[in-house]
Order: sequence, then C-alpha cells, then structure tokens
Amino acid sequence: MRVLISGVNGYVAWHLLQTLPAGVELWGTLRPGRKNQYRFPVISLDLQKEVAPALRDVDVDAVIHTAAISSLAQCEQEPQKAMRINGEATAELADWCAEKKAHLVYLSTDIVFDGEHAPYAPDDSPAPINVYGKSKYAGERAVREGAVVRLALLLGRSPHKKNFVDWFLERAENNLDIPLFYDEVRTPVPTMAAARKIWEITLARKKGRFHLAGKNSYNRLELGQALCAEYGLRDVRLKPVSLKKAAIPRPRDVRLKIL
Ligand SMILES: NC(=O)c1ccc[n+]([C@@H]2O[C@H](COP(=O)([O-])OP(=O)(O)OC[C@H]3O[C@@H](n4cnc5c(N)ncnc54)[C@H](OP(=O)(O)O)[C@@H]3O)[C@@H](O)[C@H]2O)c1
Repeated sequence: MRVLISGVNGYVAWHLLQTLPAGVELWGTLRPGRKNQYRFPVISLDLQKEVAPALRDVDVDAVIHTAAISSLAQCEQEPQKAMRINGEATAELADWCAEKKAHLVYLSTDIVFDGEHAPYAPDDSPAPINVYGKSKYAGERAVREGAVVRLALLLGRSPHKKNFVDWFLERAENNLDIPLFYDEVRTPVPTMAAARKIWEITLARKKGRFHLAGKNSYNRLELGQALCAEYGLRDVRLKPVSLKKAAIPRPRDVRLKIL
C-alpha cells in the first residue's frame, strides 16, 4: 500500500515512521524550505496555498493527514490562518482524495468537545470552545469519506518537538515551578500505541470516527505526579492551578470513550 503522510517532520509523523508496517511504500510532504532527510519521495506542500496543484505527481492509496497548526496559542493568535490550514486545506485534501480514490485518515483531537459532557463517544457532537478546536472540527466536517481519528493527550518523547513530558522534565531539571491544572481531565495515550492504531485504521481502510485514548483519566496535576514517580524525581515544584487562570479557553473534562 502506498501512503502519503502530510507534515512528515511533525511529532505524530515521527512516531508513525517508527511504527511503519511492513509493505508500506511511503510518501511525505514537507513545508517549503524544510530539510528533506528522508529516503522516500517527499513533496513540498504549503497548506496556506491551494492543495491539489502541489499533489499533482502524487499517486497513493491512502493519506494520513497530520499536518496542522497544533498549538492552541498559535490558533488563538492567528484564527484565520488556523481555519485555513486546519479547516479549508483539509477540505481541499478531502476533495483530492475523493478524486484519486485515496483513503483519507484525518487526525483530530479531544479538544473538539466542550468538556461539559464527558466521557465522549466517537459519535457525540463536538462543540469546541477555542480556535484550535473550532479549526480541527472544521477539518472533521470536511471528511465525508475516510476516517476521523481523535487523539487524546499524547504522551511520548520525540527528537522533533517538545511535548508535555519534555516541558515537564525540563522545568523539573531546572528546579522551576511547574504550574499544572488540577481541574483539566484527559485520557492520555502513549504516542507509539496511538501510531500503531493509526496504521491499523489506514491499512484496513476503516471509515468513520475513532477515539484513540488511554483507559485511565488524569488531571494535569495527577499526570505531573505520575511523571515524578516514573522518572524518580523528588522535590519537584508542582503548583496546582485552576483552568480559570488559563489564558486560552480549555475544555475541562474531555475524557474519550474507547469502543
Ligand atoms: N500532539 C498531541 O498531543 C495531539 C493530540 C491530539 C491531536 N493531535 C493532532 O495530531 C496532528 C499532528 O499533531 P503533531 O503534534 O504531530 O503536530 P506538529 O508536531 O505541530 O506537526 C504539524 C505538522 O504540520 C506542518 N505544518 C504546519 N503548518 C503547515 C503549513 N502551512 N503547510 C504545510 N505543513 C504545515 C508542520 O510543519 P513544520 O514543522 O515544518 O512547521 C508539521 O510537520 C494534528 O492534526 C493535531 O491536531 C495532536
């Protein structure tokens, strides 16, 4: 099977490359100007521009669409850009996939939910409360065929991008205060496990909505405590903070049901 991964230098994409199933012939996309260090065909794609012309020479059976503005802060600062890249560009990619009969697997997020009605099943209605959630939900609505895969908070380190665990360990190492929401509840999932499931959905050409999440729920403070235990850290300066103090609206409880 030939599979295109959009945003091949991103965090989730890195985990997809580590879990590449046998027999998959990879293609990738990178933003113009980014370093191409890959041994498979990589094309230049800027999601701010029309998608189809960039994909002119691409011939694949499936697309895993990871490319996005994934930062909540950037989405709040640049809402139009977020809607363009996460929403409109996904719609253009969905049209391209429909025309080429390529199976589209769109990565979405638990943050499309409002946080007031957890736990959420895949067919529950999104009602996002911030720009990131709204833009990702716009992308979901554009996927008429194919799969919408909602990822919970991902836990796992990669050489590419700092995530929650890196941020936490860096602050702990430097003996800095670590502010953590005690009232934000998530169902975190190891990123490698999520990547394997994404491959499963892709290779089986599964359609519909899927939730990839862990069985257990944690608030951020509990997650911080679990990380201290896992990494044997002592005297870490965990500071409980309420979501009411968050600069960006964040849903308070987005536990995902796994079916
Ligand atoms: N990480 C999580 O905890 C998490 C949780 C739930 C859902 N998700 C979803 O999973 C997907 C992947 O997330 P991630 O954490 O891997 O994000 P990421 O590391 O930020 O990767 C995003 C990718 O999109 C690319 N990109 C950004 N703007 C672009 C543009 N204008 N044109 C073309 N490419 C562009 C980036 O390229 P550059 O790096 O070159 O800028 C990067 O390759 C996203 O859809 C996100 O919403 C992630």
